[in-house]
Amino acid sequence: MSERLFSAGIPELEKFTHRIMESSEDLITVIDCQGNIIAINPAVSRLLNIKASELIGKSMIDSLYGGKKFDYQAKYLCPLIETLETGREYHEEETTLKSPLLNSHFVCKTTTGILRNAQGKPAAIYALYKDLTMWRSLERRNESLKEMMNAQQLQTILAFSAAIGARDNYTRGHSERVAEYAQMIATAMGLQEISQLVYVASLVHDVGKIGIPEHILNKPSRLTEEEYTKIKEHTVTGSNILKQIDTFSTLGAIVRYHHERYDGKGYPEGLAGEDIPLISRIIAVADSFEAMTSDRSYRKRFSIEYALEELKRCAGSQFDPLVVEHFIKLVSGSGMEKV
Ligand SMILES: [Fe+2]
Repeated sequence: MSERLFSAGIPELEKFTHRIMESSEDLITVIDCQGNIIAINPAVSRLLNIKASELIGKSMIDSLYGGKKFDYQAKYLCPLIETLETGREYHEEETTLKSPLLNSHFVCKTTTGILRNAQGKPAAIYALYKDLTMWRSLERRNESLKEMMNAQQLQTILAFSAAIGARDNYTRGHSERVAEYAQMIATAMGLQEISQLVYVASLVHDVGKIGIPEHILNKPSRLTEEEYTKIKEHTVTGSNILKQIDTFSTLGAIVRYHHERYDGKGYPEGLAGEDIPLISRIIAVADSFEAMTSDRSYRKRFSIEYALEELKRCAGSQFDPLVVEHFIKLVSGSGMEKV
């Protein structure tokens, strides 16, 4: 920080403020009224993998948002710029930041505010971002999934998974393949830290099917509306089963939303876009690809080319386009589409 932002006349106070900024794990950014960066703390540098000296004095929008002020829904990409231009301040609001400098979206709690000069005129805008990203908090607490889940708990998950497979011809092997695809996507998206969580969540994504009668699960013909309603219950049932075990509550939330659609037309809650947990969006793509390329009780499998075309066609409506893009790249590079 090179600017004197705090001029209370107590030199020690400024020193103290600097120390808080330096040691904070929250991200702190300050811009001037022209939208240029005047201060960032080390947490920002670490996240973006860029030195503070490369950003200070530069335009916030140009250096962190690729020159774009708004997203496709005409919403401000940067909360600081929104506060600067509209005066709206954020108070611990959950926000998803999308910067070309980040491998993936950054989920955080955002607070912004206007710093005024002695005359009460705006002099600068600050933002505090509390990192809510699951994998980072796991990293911070130095807890890997393995440490969170002991061997016995993992055995329980595998037993769940085997129990569903025993009743449903299709689910047998399906969950394992979904888990492999989903983990590959997570890794390709730079989410190595959560790839284990993605794998385990995918293994149990259909655990709620345990509550569905076998004649519906294995029905060779089209389902009636009533039967389809029953099938749809598996998201909430699965989530409720997993939530009963403390350590599995994260899995419960992921499983609950694996049939939501990016356009908000899915179930059980009709969540849209990034309101759907990222891991659920990843599982949705892996699940659909696996389903299309497998034989079902009522139809033969589709070709891999066809399945990829379908994913492309439904990117942005059913699926998160970014997840589809990564998966298609992955499959195209693997030679799998020629199988
Ligand atoms: Fe499912």
